[in-house]
Amino acid sequence: MSIGTELTILAVVVACVHFSVPILYYEYAKAKWLKRPWTLASDAAYAPRISLIIPTYNEASLIVGKLDSIFDEDYDRNLLEVVIVDSASVDKTAQIVESWTAAHPEMRLKFIDEPSRRGKLSAMLYAFDRIDPSSEIILVSDADSRFERGAIRKTTKYFADPSVGAVTASLGYLGVVPNEAVYREYYNIIRVAESKRHSTPIHSGVFQAIRVSVIRKIGVPTFPGSDDSAIASYLAFAGFRSIQVEDILVREPMRGSQFLTKVRRAQHVVLNFLLTKEYAKKKRVYVKTEFEPIWGCEFWLNIVNPWILVLAVFLLALSILEGLRVFSVSVALIGLLALGLKAYRSWISQQLYLILGCIRNFITRSETWSR
Ligand code: GDD
Ligand code: MN
Repeated sequence: MSIGTELTILAVVVACVHFSVPILYYEYAKAKWLKRPWTLASDAAYAPRISLIIPTYNEASLIVGKLDSIFDEDYDRNLLEVVIVDSASVDKTAQIVESWTAAHPEMRLKFIDEPSRRGKLSAMLYAFDRIDPSSEIILVSDADSRFERGAIRKTTKYFADPSVGAVTASLGYLGVVPNEAVYREYYNIIRVAESKRHSTPIHSGVFQAIRVSVIRKIGVPTFPGSDDSAIASYLAFAGFRSIQVEDILVREPMRGSQFLTKVRRAQHVVLNFLLTKEYAKKKRVYVKTEFEPIWGCEFWLNIVNPWILVLAVFLLALSILEGLRVFSVSVALIGLLALGLKAYRSWISQQLYLILGCIRNFITRSETWSR
């Protein structure tokens, strides 16, 4: 057998590893975990005090829609405080919030001014120190996301179980976002399944509820990019459940460049997997639980597996450079033609974002972003 053919075979084997691990994990999680009931003592009557924190930077065009939709929620307003933490927006966000507040005296709304812009994480930490001290739950939610009505009410029952540290919603999009729907579907299922087993390491700042007593006790990670998933993973490493639930749906639009946004988000995911476990150990909160194997699989999927694909492509390219053969060229063609399939295209673009997110760490870990 020629070296070129051997390389092609190797490339195919490596590609099979890349594609089969996530499929097997998905099927396993779905069959073993997804259908089981929640092992939680949830209680629909549990009604804690909540501080809903909305970090804003230049959200003049969306903040009214956000506030209106929260106003429309069916959670007892006496138990809800809305906190807008704004980092010196240069548009009219502050004025718009002020007039909305004046027009809605029934809603308890606090506007917090961070003196300068240091990023979303900094704004969140700034707000955590300034919420109503009697609040039991912090709910962080981006200005552009919209809850399916009832989201707040549906969240609290999970916190009736003291083991729950964080709750995130299942995610959808507002409008059409190319190549994303299939991927979201796949991940929503895996993350809910992992949550039923113990916890999922990936939470979204689109809707992120956190138990205040827990973070008062063990803190939150503060390394770059630790504004959403890292908090959830950190709590899970400390033995609390960080869950994504299927009965709360929150949608967000894709604003600005989809490519740049996805790379930045992937970078946050990568940083979470590279730093959070060590951070939990350093803070001496780490305990070994059923979360450990979940973390291991997700580490593989988000950190290792994308590079397995790179390796497969590299081997295939080498084999083609060795000499054009029907076998190697057909494999390459199949790989390219399959991009016509939505699910495959969605998967490949996600791998690309994770690879670029990883590389971006060498260029910048900036906490501020433009849209
Ligand atoms: N106060 C404050 N200060 N808020 C900020 C800042 C800042 O410097 N930068 C961004 N925000 C706010 C935005 O106004 C918005 O409400 C929210 O943070 C999310 O920002 P988007 O611009 O909508 O970014 P995204 O949709 O890509 O954010 C997603 O990925 C981020 C990680 O890269 C979300 O999941 C975020 O929650 C996540 O942090
Ligand atoms: Mn957004």
